[in-house]
Amino acid sequence: MHLVLVHVFLAHGSGEMLGKDQPVRLQLIETKQGMSPLKGVMMELEDGAFPLLESVKGTSDLEEGFGDANFSLLVGAMPRKQGMERSDLLSANAAIFADQGKALSATAAPGSRVLIVGNPANTNALVAAANAPDMLPEQFMAMTRLDQSRAEGMIAEKAGVDVKDVDRVIIWGNHSATQYPDVSHARIGGRWAKDVIKDDKWLTGDFVSKVQKRGAEVIAARGASSAASAASAAIDNIRDVHLGSDKWQSIGVLSDGSYGIGGGLWYSVPCACPGLHYTRVKGLPIDAYSAKMMSATEAELVAERDAVRHLLPSSYDAGVPLQKLVALKEAWDANDKARIQEASKSLPARFQAAVKSALSS
Ligand SMILES: NC(=O)c1ccc[n+]([C@@H]2O[C@H](COP(=O)([O-])OP(=O)(O)OC[C@H]3O[C@@H](n4cnc5c(N)ncnc54)[C@H](O)[C@@H]3O)[C@@H](O)[C@H]2O)c1
Repeated sequence: MHLVLVHVFLAHGSGEMLGKDQPVRLQLIETKQGMSPLKGVMMELEDGAFPLLESVKGTSDLEEGFGDANFSLLVGAMPRKQGMERSDLLSANAAIFADQGKALSATAAPGSRVLIVGNPANTNALVAAANAPDMLPEQFMAMTRLDQSRAEGMIAEKAGVDVKDVDRVIIWGNHSATQYPDVSHARIGGRWAKDVIKDDKWLTGDFVSKVQKRGAEVIAARGASSAASAASAAIDNIRDVHLGSDKWQSIGVLSDGSYGIGGGLWYSVPCACPGLHYTRVKGLPIDAYSAKMMSATEAELVAERDAVRHLLPSSYDAGVPLQKLVALKEAWDANDKARIQEASKSLPARFQAAVKSALSS
């Protein structure tokens, strides 16, 4: 049973994701074997009588499922079981995301947003984006918002404050045990979190390892990966990007060379969410400890990327020169249509077509 999705859809139907006045049409994709439980989920959605839910469709055909989609949540994957390493998941799951990238590219609405939740989320995002020739890398996000929520919860508990008073906690890198939950820029009620907590040993020790291992801890306790909290994080991610938020949000996005991270990885960085899009928060000072932690998680993502090379189209290796994409991304981040058009001129035709359709949406 697709627990993460069930929670997402219940919240989606009640307007928590895209706003209380936004009707939604749900298109649910399942494997052929999973169609019967999916029917049960669809019945529950009907029974919920959600006023915003216009229609619910279930299918195992990817192109039908992604057809004209504005927001796609890629959750369907084999979850990690107790004792299973993330590397075991790589080959099993990345192939699913190659097919999904192709189908999204062929059928989703222009300028659509895709959130990858299924693990290994960052590398699945890379595989999906690399297999989506008519979409821009910016359209694909890997979810690290759950890690951010976990870290914010722990900081709030330690400081004895409400979690809403905590902001600017950053998750760098991979959604895995190498991720770096960074509080060097975090604030509690507007004051530096480090000055409020006054326990650097905890902040660089137990806190970091607890956030890194929280997913495994949940699996050990309930025998399945996080469901309700993962769904809540997916809702937060999409809502903040679409409707805007004054808080930073960590998202796994294409590394653009900032903070020295390149290589076409989907690396989690802090993003500002002004509404309808996200922009990377750049230029933060990075201390020696943080640099070491950021490099460790980058190394893991490089190894994951290299392990799925066979799923990346050969054109991906030849690739678009990164600096050309960076110019496009900066224009995109600034939401400046004239600069986007200018920057896209030097890109291959497939990117120009994607930019044209994204701008017309
Ligand atoms: N990024 C995060 O923070 C985060 C948090 C929690 C869970 N996850 C991941 O989310 C994924 C789903 O977790 P879950 O607990 O809902 O698992 P689950 O086993 O309850 O559901 C997985 C569902 O995916 C379906 N599925 C499998 N392959 C599919 C395919 N090719 N197309 C469509 N559907 C397919 C299965 O039939 C099943 O219904 C896992 O990969 C898990 O590790 C990520």
